[in-house]
Amino acid sequence: MVIGEGGLEPIRKVLEEDVPLTEEDRRDLTHQLLVYAEELSDLYHAATERADKMEAANAEVNRTLDLLRKADDHRRKLLAALVRAEEEERKRIASDVHDDPIQVMTAVGMRLHTVRALVSEPEAQEMMERLAVTVEEAIERLRFLLFELRPRSLDREGLAAALREYLEVTFSQASIEYEVENELGVEPPEEIRTVIYRIAREAFANVRRHAKAKKVSVLLRSENSGVLARVRDDGVGFSLSEVETNRPGHLGLSACAERAEMAGGWFRIDSAPGSGTSAEFWIPLPG
Ligand SMILES: Nc1ncnc2c1ncn2[C@@H]1O[C@H](COP(=O)(O)OP(=O)(O)O)[C@@H](O)[C@H]1O
Ligand SMILES: [Mg+2]
Repeated sequence: MVIGEGGLEPIRKVLEEDVPLTEEDRRDLTHQLLVYAEELSDLYHAATERADKMEAANAEVNRTLDLLRKADDHRRKLLAALVRAEEEERKRIASDVHDDPIQVMTAVGMRLHTVRALVSEPEAQEMMERLAVTVEEAIERLRFLLFELRPRSLDREGLAAALREYLEVTFSQASIEYEVENELGVEPPEEIRTVIYRIAREAFANVRRHAKAKKVSVLLRSENSGVLARVRDDGVGFSLSEVETNRPGHLGLSACAERAEMAGGWFRIDSAPGSGTSAEFWIPLPG
């Protein structure tokens, strides 16, 4: 902007003070005023043009954000459908395994006992006994498969009992102590129970695989119209910054976060080398 010598000062002086003006002064000032008016008009046009551009850019950003939100919403819905389908499939397989192979193997075991009573040669009897043991072991393995698919305790005795059972099965052999503190007044509905159980299991798997812990503690508590769960271990811990970027093949923690967010909640992990690890998550209860 080209402002005449002395800027606006001479004009202000003329307006505010009663300075006598020569003809020449008047011409100069009039000229200067015209120059300012022109510059102001240019500035005004430049400013409105910029405001228009900003408005357009803003609208574009909002449109993009909207698209992103829609895409994210869509992704979440797909994921929720996928998780539901997975759970349904697990239930179906569990019920098939229970109704068919386990029943059949149990019947085989019973028949073996009957046949064993009918044979007299000791060699054949011994073979039958060994066969009966093998059948028992096969049934045990099938039962474990059922438990892995979906423990019955989750629906029969509730979340805390199912978590205790899982810890018992996976940690007692490894001589890792565990405790489950259940401060929930009421049992959460099935869907919420399942989400919490699956996330906790992933956390337990990490404790078993990475933590070298002596003890695992689980806490379940009602908070903000939802369920707060925490899985804490006293193991080696890890540096969050090193694990923060998604590494291919290591999807456990991000899957936990996805599952929690999909259910409208959150998942947080807190750890440092040498200080153990705490995985905490919150899932809102419906309505
Ligand atoms: N409880 C834990 N104790 C020690 N390290 C852990 C624990 N949980 C997670 N980590 C670290 O975080 C990483 C990422 O975990 P995760 O996403 O579950 O992938 P993965 O278990 O397949 O490696 C692990 O590789 C491990 O280094
Ligand atoms: Mg893992």
